Amino acid sequence: ASTLGAAAAQSGRYFGTAVAAGRLGDSTYTTIAGREFNMITAENEMKPDTTEPQRGVFNFSSGDQIYNWATQRGMKVRGHTLAWHSQQPSWWGGISGSALRQAMIDHINGVMGHYKGKLAYWDVVNEAFNEDGSRRQSNLQATGNDWIEVAFRTARNADPSVKLCYNDYNIENWSYGKTQGVYRMIQDFKSRGVPIDCVGLQTHFTGGSSLPGNFQTTLSSFAALGVDVALTEVDVTNSSTSQYGGLTQACMNVPRCVGITVWGVRDSDSWRSNESPLLFDGGGNKKAAYTSVLNALNAA
Ligand code: G3I
Repeated sequence: ASTLGAAAAQSGRYFGTAVAAGRLGDSTYTTIAGREFNMITAENEMKPDTTEPQRGVFNFSSGDQIYNWATQRGMKVRGHTLAWHSQQPSWWGGISGSALRQAMIDHINGVMGHYKGKLAYWDVVNEAFNEDGSRRQSNLQATGNDWIEVAFRTARNADPSVKLCYNDYNIENWSYGKTQGVYRMIQDFKSRGVPIDCVGLQTHFTGGSSLPGNFQTTLSSFAALGVDVALTEVDVTNSSTSQYGGLTQACMNVPRCVGITVWGVRDSDSWRSNESPLLFDGGGNKKAAYTSVLNALNAA
C-alpha cells in the first residue's frame, strides 16, 4: 500500500497523527493528514483545560471540529486526555481533596458523555508516574492513591463502548523504573478487575542508532497482561530512520500492538519543531523516515 494508513490496515492496525484545530485551514496540512492517516488524536482540544474551562461549563467546539473533520473522512478518533497533572482547568487549582476528586469524576462523566459511543480509545489517565516508578506527586495524587482506578471505573460506566487506556512517556525501555512501575499497576488492575483495556506508550524518542532497551519486550510484556498496546505520540529527534523503522517493526511483531500515532504531521507542526522529529518536512515532503515506516508496515 502507498499510504501509512492503508499499509497499517493490511495487518488490521491503524496509523494516526495528532491534529491541531488551528491548522485545519492549512491545505498542505489537511491534504497530507487526509491522505496518510486513519486515526486522529486532538493535540490539545480534548484536554481538561479546553473542555471544562469553568466548573460544569463544558466547551467541545474545537474538539468537535477535529472529531467532525476526522469522521467525515472515515477516520477514527482517540480521545486525549481526561485526567492529567498538566493542562488542567485553572479552577482545579483552587480545590483539593474530596472536592477535586469529585471534580475529576464529574469531568470524566461530562466529557465522555458528550463523546459517548463515538471514540475508539480514551487516554483516561496520562503521565501519572515518576521516572523511578513511584507515583507522581500531583494534586490528583493528593486526593488519594486510588484516584487512577476511580478514574477508570468512572470511565467504564460513562461509556462502555470505548477502550480505556493509560498513557505515559519513558515507559519504552523494559529495564527502566517507570516502565516497571506502570507494569505493576496494570498487573494489579487486571488482578483486581479494575477496567483497563490498553497502555499507550508515547514513544518520544531521542534520535540515535538503536531503540530503548528491549522495546519489543516491553510491548509484549504489557500485552501479556491482557491489554492492547499502542504507540501514541511518536516522534524521534532528527527522524532517525533506523529508529523509526525499528519502532514500527517492534509494533508489527507484537499482535496486540494495535496501531501507531505520530505526534504531528510536518516537522513545523511539532512541539519539538526545531528537532526535525516527524515524517514530513516543513514543506510537506516525505522524509527518509517516512519510507522506513511505510516499508515496515508493508512487510508485516
Ligand atoms: O492556546 C494557547 C494560545 O491561546 C496562545 O496564544 C499560545 C501562546 O503560546 O499558547 C496556546 O497554548 C499552547 C498549546 O500548546 C496550544 O498551542 C500552550 O502554550 C502549549 O503549552 C501547548 O503545548 C502542548 C503541550 O502538550 C502542553 O503540555 C503541545 O501543543 C502538545 O503537543 C503537547 O502534547 C503532549 C501530550 O498532550 C502529552 N504527552 C507529551 C506531549 C508533548 O509535550
